[in-house]
Amino acid sequence: MTRRLALVGLGPGDPELVTAQAARVLREVDYFLVADKTERHPGTADLLAMRAEICARHVPDGWRVVRVADPERDRDAPADYGAAVRDWHEARAVAFERALLANEGDAAILVWGDPTLYDSAIRLADRLVERGAVDLRVEVVPGLSSVQLLAARHGLVLNTVGGPVTLTTGRRLLTDAGATNVAQGDNLVVLLDGALACRELPDPDAWQLWWGANLGSADEKLVAGRLSEVIDRVQREREEARRARGWVMDTYLLRRS
Ligand SMILES: C[S@@+](CC[C@H](N)C(=O)[O-])C[C@H]1O[C@@H](n2cnc3c(N)ncnc32)[C@H](O)[C@@H]1O
Repeated sequence: MTRRLALVGLGPGDPELVTAQAARVLREVDYFLVADKTERHPGTADLLAMRAEICARHVPDGWRVVRVADPERDRDAPADYGAAVRDWHEARAVAFERALLANEGDAAILVWGDPTLYDSAIRLADRLVERGAVDLRVEVVPGLSSVQLLAARHGLVLNTVGGPVTLTTGRRLLTDAGATNVAQGDNLVVLLDGALACRELPDPDAWQLWWGANLGSADEKLVAGRLSEVIDRVQREREEARRARGWVMDTYLLRRS
């Protein structure tokens, strides 16, 4: 029998930012599949607690969680980065497949933010369908992304009039921000930056920064201004946010001024 696998975007943390459609799907499925990283990353226990808070608000009759231990990923600069990521995706697909085979009924994978932005749930579901061990009907339920919340909190339009917006990562920022790629007025939204890569930009006076950490949580932090003038404050607030919750996730917009 075909089973439903819903990839549900939960928004970036605030239970009020869950869409009505996501809330309905959460109530309709039989259980939630959650990748469990708590063994290797104890800070993520708080993220699981935030997810539980979201569910408590929107699934008042209770819910069942099936935890799937997240396989180890080779992060120590593997010689072939692409192959390391592919191996990890495959190990993840096998782990989720086992969980689906062991638990009957319809399932949802709870996705932080929106499933279409820097998240592997859609690729994971594609792989599960390809492997064919479970007959699945996959459904993607959009959520509000951290990027949208960042823009809303700062009262910002991400693009300048008619201008492009590039979404990138901390790992790629210095390449993407190279003068050949980014003209005046262009906009770079940076996610997945563990070390504030914008600190390393060669011309910090030339950029405006709008930054936000742990958006949607009670310990949310916001800073805006010229990169050269606010970067030390951003660093301090980032550390404060990490101390407050045991984890920090931040997103920022850079605009060449
Ligand atoms: C794996 S990506 C997931 C993005 C997510 N799918 C989304 O739509 O926002 C994780 C990155 O998203 C950003 N992020 C997610 N939640 C955030 C939050 N509550 N506050 C600030 N940034 C957040 C951070 O850049 C973090 O490193």
